[in-house]
Order: sequence, then C-alpha cells, then structure tokens
Amino acid sequence: MTAGMRDGTAPPQGAHPRGARDGAEPIQITTAGPPARPLFTVMEATAQAQPNIALVKYWGKREPVSNLPAVGSLSVTLDELWTRTRVRFDETIAADRFELNTRASAETSRVTACLDRLRGLAGTQRRALVSSRNNFPTGAGLASSASGFAALVAAAAQALGLELSGEEISRLARRSSGSAARSVFGGFVELPAADSSTADVAATPLLAASAWPLGVTIAITSTKAKAVGSGEGMQHTAETSAYYDAWVQTAAADLVEARRAVLARDFETLATVSERSCLKMHAAMMAAQPGLVYWNGATVECVHCVRALRESGVPVFFTIDAGPQVKAVSPPEHAATVRKALAAVPGVIDILHSGIGGGVRIIESEPS
Ligand code: DP6
Repeated sequence: MTAGMRDGTAPPQGAHPRGARDGAEPIQITTAGPPARPLFTVMEATAQAQPNIALVKYWGKREPVSNLPAVGSLSVTLDELWTRTRVRFDETIAADRFELNTRASAETSRVTACLDRLRGLAGTQRRALVSSRNNFPTGAGLASSASGFAALVAAAAQALGLELSGEEISRLARRSSGSAARSVFGGFVELPAADSSTADVAATPLLAASAWPLGVTIAITSTKAKAVGSGEGMQHTAETSAYYDAWVQTAAADLVEARRAVLARDFETLATVSERSCLKMHAAMMAAQPGLVYWNGATVECVHCVRALRESGVPVFFTIDAGPQVKAVSPPEHAATVRKALAAVPGVIDILHSGIGGGVRIIESEPS
C-alpha cells in the first residue's frame, strides 16, 4: 500500500502499484518484413482523471515555485466529469505540442514544465504530443486544471515506463496545480498545508467514495473562461487582502472539523464547515485591492436557493470555487429535488450532476 493511505482506499488504477506496468512498454515501430528492426520507439499512454470539488478550500501558497499550499484542503473527486489525456513521447519532434479539445492550446508552457519534471526522472529529452479532452466547460471554475494535470502526470509517467506510486504522482501533479494533487485519488481526499519544514506535500485519500456516496449538483451560471486564474488570484489575495492572514490562521481548524465530519458521515457538520470555508475564501479575495469577485447574480441566487432548501429540511449545502458555478452537495436521494430547485433559479443555464468517483487511471482509448 502506498505510504499515507489511511483506510485501504485503492491506489489509482494503472499508474500504480509498483510493478503493474501494463501498457508501459515502448511500442516498437518496425520496418515491414523480417528482420524486425526498430526504426524508432514511440512511448504512449492515455489516462483519465476527474475534477474534484474542495469542501475545505485551498487558496494561497506558502511557496510559489514548488507550489506548496499555505492551507490544507479537503475535497471530493467526481465521477461523471472527466479529462482524458494522451501523451506520446516522440524522438522525431522538436518541441512539445498540446491540444485541448482538438485545438492547439496556449497552456503549452505549463504542460512542458510538468513534462520536464517527468523527463528528468526518466532521463530523457524526448518531446511529447499531448492531446487532452474535457467533457465539461474548461477554465470556468470546474477544476479542469485539477483533472488535467492529474491525467497528464499519470499518462506521461506510464508512457515513460516510470513506476510511480500514487503519492509520487500526487506530488508531481501538485507542482503544476495544487488541486491536481487531490484528483489523483478517489473519494474524500485531503491535501495538507506545507509548514516551514516541508519541502513537498502529496494528497492522501481519507474515505472511499462507496463509504459515503454523496452527490454533487452543479449549477452552471456562465460558460465563459474566468478572467483571473487561481494562481494569480491567490497571489493578489495574499499580497493585498486585509483578511488573508485570518483566512490562513483559521483554515487548520476547518480542516480538522471537516475531516472528523467525513469520518463520522456527519452531514450537518460537513455542511456548516464547508459553507464557512467557501465564504471565508471568497471574503478574503473580495477584500483584496481591487476586490476579486468570481460570482455573478445567479451565483448569489443559487446560494439563497440552497439555504432555503436546507431550511425546508433537504440535506444540502453549497460550495463555490474560483468561478461563478455553484456546487450543491447532497445525499443522492435528494439530488432530483436540488436539481429542480436550482434549474428554476433565473440565470442558471445548465445543470450537471455527478456522484463521487475514483482516482486517476490508465485507459486504453485515446481522446477522439
Ligand atoms: C478555488 O489548484 O487551480 O478551486 O495551484 O495555482 O494551480 P494552482 O491553483 P488551483 O486552485 C484551486 C482553488 C480553488 C479551491 C480548491 O480547489 O481547493
């Protein structure tokens, strides 16, 4: 079992455990007819990861270069939304190429920085063709960078034949995007804060999805990509918000309370601490100069809708990330009621629903 796995939750399939190298062997491309002589080798693998939704939020970095989080966070990994990423290392190309949803992407430098760390481990200079597909809106506060970098690291490690544990994949994913560390695992997942003595941190699974199968209903209020990315928003908040220190100082207690609530399946406590963490994070960014407001009018109406539902006896709570979408968490038997209520909120343009799912895994098929 991977170090840090607390409850026997399964490691990510395919990328782990050590020794499980199905599909990791380089594909030999040969000339026709005997003798079979490799012309060159292509190393390729595809991985799927799901976004995660933080119930206790990560917002702020202790150290930006290694991307160490200033606060601990706790999330649920989804199952219906996914990113599928194919990585092909090829000695015949001179530069990495990155395609997202079949179009050349402007994020290639972030992808290259991530691949450089894996190339360093594998001792290769080979460039890669990376092709990625999301089945949900990208860059709109639905954690596409979390599923994106978890899938990228797992696929690249597999293609290079690296035998990495879930913990190692999580550390590498975190270097590219903090929340990506959590998408490596399924169910309820924790990412600790880095303290002054910590050079690196990885996420750890806390509770399997099957142990508490909650559902997440997502009210889409805009499909525009956000104007300010999370990393930039965090830095701006840390540098200019009068509330940032209070946010960091009170985060550890929220994490302890949420962890206890998850392990006890205590929905009411989890609802209280999750909404508190979400509103504190947004309060801290709104108090920055200039204030950072990811919400629109429909976001606020959805918050009131969820609270009215709860007052009427429906177990449900909301959370909102760096975007205008509202995620409502409830037991599955209440999902239809929550969906109907949120769909009726003016300004809600679509509703998605997802259960809680598994961690990153190697898959056979490639993005099409
Ligand atoms: C609001 O993980 O996107 O979704 O580490 O800079 O890539 P970087 O930030 P990112 O931030 C996620 C912020 C959040 C809260 C959360 O997921 O915990």
